[in-house]
Amino acid sequence: MAFKTLAALLSVVGSIQLASAALTKRVACPDGVNTATNAACCNLFAVRDDIQKNLFENGQCGAEAHESLRLTFHDGIAISNKAGNVGGADGSIMLFDDVETNFHPNVGLDEIINLQKPFVAKHNISAADFQQLPRCSAPAILPRPGRKVATGPAPDGLVPEPFHTVEQILDRFADAGPVGFEDVEVVWALSAHTIAAANDVDPATPGLRGTTFTGKGGHQGEVQSAIKGVMRLQSDHLLARDSRTNCEWQSFVNNPQKLHDRFIDAWLKISLLGSDQDTMIDCSEVIPVPKTINVQATFPPSLTNKNVEQACADTPFPTLKTAPGPATVVAPVPKN
Ligand code: HEM
Repeated sequence: MAFKTLAALLSVVGSIQLASAALTKRVACPDGVNTATNAACCNLFAVRDDIQKNLFENGQCGAEAHESLRLTFHDGIAISNKAGNVGGADGSIMLFDDVETNFHPNVGLDEIINLQKPFVAKHNISAADFQQLPRCSAPAILPRPGRKVATGPAPDGLVPEPFHTVEQILDRFADAGPVGFEDVEVVWALSAHTIAAANDVDPATPGLRGTTFTGKGGHQGEVQSAIKGVMRLQSDHLLARDSRTNCEWQSFVNNPQKLHDRFIDAWLKISLLGSDQDTMIDCSEVIPVPKTINVQATFPPSLTNKNVEQACADTPFPTLKTAPGPATVVAPVPKN
């Protein structure tokens, strides 16, 4: 069940790093097919191809790709300055899944972990490195010789929940050490929800504030949305309105290039949590580059600027056209 319909936005991620790669000297990989800017990236092409073919059903950016992104975020964010900065993007969520999938915010992640495990077993790759690979698009930074791998499960209580307050969420991200995240970076990271589905906030659901719930009504962490079939998380709803984050949130409207660039920045930080970038090799080129989508944003049918709850005090909400036709019902994200 989709809770945002802007799936197209994230699909533009990845086109920029390719342009610079073209200017760099490349080495031929032993597979006789691929070339890479660094030979250490060569063995990742086979892992990528296996993922695209057999996990993502021939490269579809569907449910498994969404779940994989959520999984990597939940692995990475589980690091805390207050707790001595142990953990982060170290694969613990996969290696200690018997512990971590019982944490409340990790509900449902056991499914994608079980789907991914055979790929880790088949290829000579650590769970920590593997977590950076199942992507439709995103930067992949791989270490030399290997990303730090978890020796124990992450502590509970470090993954944000949709019923947390803005204060709790911003504090949690700021505490994800050692560097932490600025408030605007939290907004950048949350653009991931443009491709997200929700299966467990309201298990009964197969889908502008205030007119409708999906499924059987309000659940913890869920608020009303304007479109049938669209699940709106309370945390997203509040961050879009809070004075610390509302203007940044609004700034993404009709600006896919900004979303592309800033998501890469935020995702890079998430993928580096607990690791030192200076000891790593950038293997972003391994990640597939999707088609660029260049469409003007519109309001859903029947909705206009008048339906917008203006939250940003500095800049008016951009004027958008309204899509033609009857009111939309957003279909659930299909499961393979
Ligand atoms: C305030 C922080 C966040 C909260 C409270 C939050 C919460 C949630 C919740 C409740 C769901 C639905 C789970 C379900 O019912 O199946 C979800 C889905 C998702 N989240 Fe987040 N999230 C946050 C930040 C992030 C970030 C930073 C990323 C990635 C960079 C991310 C990626 C995703 C993805 C890709 C999904 C969709 C998974 C699927 O389609 O199966 N989330 N999130």
